[in-house]
Amino acid sequence: MKVLFVNACMRGEKSRTLELCRDYLEKLQAAYPQAEIEEVDLTTLDIQVQDGAFIERRDAFLRAGDFSDEMFNLAKQLIAADHVVIGAPYWDLSFPAKLKMYLERCSVDKLTFIYDDQGVPHGQCRAKALTYITTAGGYIGDMNFGFDYVKGLCSMLFGIREFHFAAADGIDIIGVDVAARMAEAKSKFTEILREI
Ligand SMILES: Cc1cc2nc3c(=O)[nH]c(=O)nc-3n(C[C@H](O)[C@H](O)[C@H](O)COP(=O)(O)O)c2cc1C
Repeated sequence: MKVLFVNACMRGEKSRTLELCRDYLEKLQAAYPQAEIEEVDLTTLDIQVQDGAFIERRDAFLRAGDFSDEMFNLAKQLIAADHVVIGAPYWDLSFPAKLKMYLERCSVDKLTFIYDDQGVPHGQCRAKALTYITTAGGYIGDMNFGFDYVKGLCSMLFGIREFHFAAADGIDIIGVDVAARMAEAKSKFTEILREI
């Protein structure tokens, strides 16, 4: 099983979200010793914003059916994964912009998804399930826009069918027992891993 860890924990080693992700990945490795975990570290990934010039260049490749350029490598890596893990802190009610840039780069017509004659997209990702891990300063409640967006994109276009979510939220609120909130989020992982 190829596991792709998309690390959008922008604060690096200081990130509590990264702490949760590492716990999830350790448990995953223990449950599936054969799993190969590959990481895309968005904190260091050099990625250009997709502006008009970029899209024109990309469209020329798409018209030629040529996906050999390195701009398609992230999409190919995502398509080939058997399980996807996204770790991203809750920023401005969603997630850091670098994750949006990554998802845009992965979202390629005729590669990540193929439209049929009826205009229905068929997602090409091998992964059945995606796990989204986050932490938030306040309570996320029904404003889970980051996860909801990832779920929408990855189910509608990329073909991933099952989504799991784990969060330690409220952890910047004074008086909240941060260790308990983190432990509570970690306790969900074993259950999630049974379902992937
Ligand atoms: C740029 C930025 C935006 C944030 N936006 C929100 C927000 O909209 N709602 C919220 O509850 N917390 C927000 N926070 C707090 C973080 O969600 C919280 O500190 C989280 O645990 C950070 O994760 P990390 O430790 O993995 O970096 C924000 C923090 C930063 C740095």
